[in-house]
Amino acid sequence: MKKVLVTGGLGQIGSHVVEMLLERGDKVFVIDNLATGRREHLQDHPDLTVVIDTIADKALVEKLVGDFRPDAIVHTAASYKDPDDWYSDTLTNCVGGANMVDAAKKFGVGRFIYFQTALCYGLKPMQQPIRLDHPRFPGGSSYAISKTTNEFYLELSGVDYVTFRLANVVGPRNVAGPLPIFYQRLKDGKQCFVTNARRDFVFVKDLARVVLKAIDGVGHGAYHFSSGKDVAIQELYDAVVTALDVPGKPKAELKELGPDDVFSILLDPSRTFEDFGAIEFTPLQETVSAAMAYYQKYGTLGEYTHLRLEGKK
Ligand SMILES: NC(=O)c1ccc[n+]([C@@H]2O[C@H](COP(=O)([O-])OP(=O)(O)OC[C@H]3O[C@@H](n4cnc5c(N)ncnc54)[C@H](O)[C@@H]3O)[C@@H](O)[C@H]2O)c1
Repeated sequence: MKKVLVTGGLGQIGSHVVEMLLERGDKVFVIDNLATGRREHLQDHPDLTVVIDTIADKALVEKLVGDFRPDAIVHTAASYKDPDDWYSDTLTNCVGGANMVDAAKKFGVGRFIYFQTALCYGLKPMQQPIRLDHPRFPGGSSYAISKTTNEFYLELSGVDYVTFRLANVVGPRNVAGPLPIFYQRLKDGKQCFVTNARRDFVFVKDLARVVLKAIDGVGHGAYHFSSGKDVAIQELYDAVVTALDVPGKPKAELKELGPDDVFSILLDPSRTFEDFGAIEFTPLQETVSAAMAYYQKYGTLGEYTHLRLEGKK
């Protein structure tokens, strides 16, 4: 039995990790401020404690880590809702992130699992697929700047860590990016838009299984969690229309790529396969159908994209 503290445990990735940990008999402590998470994402469980509060509170973080004494910290909490809200991004991702790393160091937490954005490689990466040694140029967004700061603190700390650098993790409880937007617009009878961009969409439960291995000691340092293959946004849209069985199968309107849009973001996953073993990636239609079943039950939270949408301040 392990004790695991999960920040952001009521969010997409965190809640799936928590469920898998509880299933195998671990004790889990969650802290989440409900910025983008929902209490109903986790059912009550005798081995689960949930605190609704912020990791930006240093005294609180020290008390929680000092009292619970986790074997591992899974740090999924992040702020990204509004590209112009630098205050919230730095407060959660820099101050809160540093609080978590500092507490891990102070109380000798054995493993620290972090989740970094592929935007750390900049808006125009120099390679395709992007290798782990690609320089980090997070200057293009407040989210990437603050997330990368947290990753640098982790590297500085000397704590044994794994950082999963991610492109597009989707499935049930995914509140940001194209899937909730397509769902909501189709439901409201509104026009959907696609570009000819391509992305690698991976299923959140596939990632969560690998996170459990990392908690148990597999891996050290940076990894890409990625299938290594991309799909067109148009294919993603078609999978949404199929999953929802939308009458008349409405077509999406093709738009030019915006100035901040990259045609394709592919992350080289070879180190992940070497250290964590082969990963059976869930097919796109199954992933999208699982996400749609979630939105049909819980609805969406709004249109978050990490980056400023063209024409939208
Ligand atoms: N989903 C992706 O495609 C993706 C891609 C790259 C990186 N990531 C990273 O993975 C992690 C998890 O992403 P997700 O998709 O589960 O997002 P999410 O929004 O579903 O989960 C984040 C959780 O953190 C909580 N939170 C935010 N600020 C907090 C604070 N100050 N204190 C406590 N809790 C706070 C939110 O309420 C939410 O429950 C994040 O760190 C994110 O930066 C995700």
